[in-house]
Amino acid sequence: MLSVNNLHVNYGMAQALRGVDLHVNEGEIVALIGRNGAGKTTLLKAITGLVKVKEGEITYLGQSLIGQPAHEIMKKGISHVPQGRQIFGDQTVEENLLLGAYTQIKKNPKQVQQQMEREYERFPRLKERRNQQAGTLSGGEQQMLALSRALMSNPQYLVLDEPSMGLSPLYVKLILDTVSQLRQEGKTILLVEQIAGAALSISDRAYVMSSGQVEMTGNSQDLLHDERVIRTYLGA
Ligand SMILES: Nc1ncnc2c1ncn2[C@@H]1O[C@H](COP(=O)(O)OP(=O)(O)O)[C@@H](O)[C@H]1O
Ligand SMILES: [Mg+2]
Repeated sequence: MLSVNNLHVNYGMAQALRGVDLHVNEGEIVALIGRNGAGKTTLLKAITGLVKVKEGEITYLGQSLIGQPAHEIMKKGISHVPQGRQIFGDQTVEENLLLGAYTQIKKNPKQVQQQMEREYERFPRLKERRNQQAGTLSGGEQQMLALSRALMSNPQYLVLDEPSMGLSPLYVKLILDTVSQLRQEGKTILLVEQIAGAALSISDRAYVMSSGQVEMTGNSQDLLHDERVIRTYLGA
């Protein structure tokens, strides 16, 4: 349903993506792994309209996303959980959630309210803290909030950029279990994850990126047992 072909992105003179090909089928969890600086974040940003594409094509449900502004891409049902969470620290938990649905709040206030209740069921901790300033939440709670905020628009497709970054093992498990749960709910997911072993364990397929290119791709179970992946990314 999402297809990226020969994608090139530059930052000034620096080439961040150099001919990336990738696709994600409906209902899949696809993991994207690779070292810092490999181009993972840039690829997600290109998909959701946050960086300019130099060359190549991105199509979603048969339509090109190239040149479309981020809010239009979000309206098509693609939601982005950015690296570093980027919640609004001086706003409350509930205000942050409502910002995730800002394109719908006037048209469908009831639906937005229902979605918020679903997110409070998913993460009761957020409900307890609904009137608390988001900046005062723990890292794990902020990641729950970032995820729930992205889900407020009830997207079909979710791109997640290192959701486990900086979290304790308990929260890493909670967040990754939630990602698996989202697939059960029918979401399609592209997951960037620094903990390669965990990413491969919960995904169907994976891409390994290096220096702005796809270095390897395959079935996640196969990659988990690939000697080169083990040596380079699973840190035996
Ligand atoms: N805003 C930016 N301006 C200039 N260079 C950037 C910017 N963002 C990322 N880069 C560079 O692009 C490359 C890819 O970065 P990034 O996509 O963030 O990689 P990853 O997410 O895999 O760590 C890196 O060399 C990085 O330094
Ligand atoms: Mg990154």
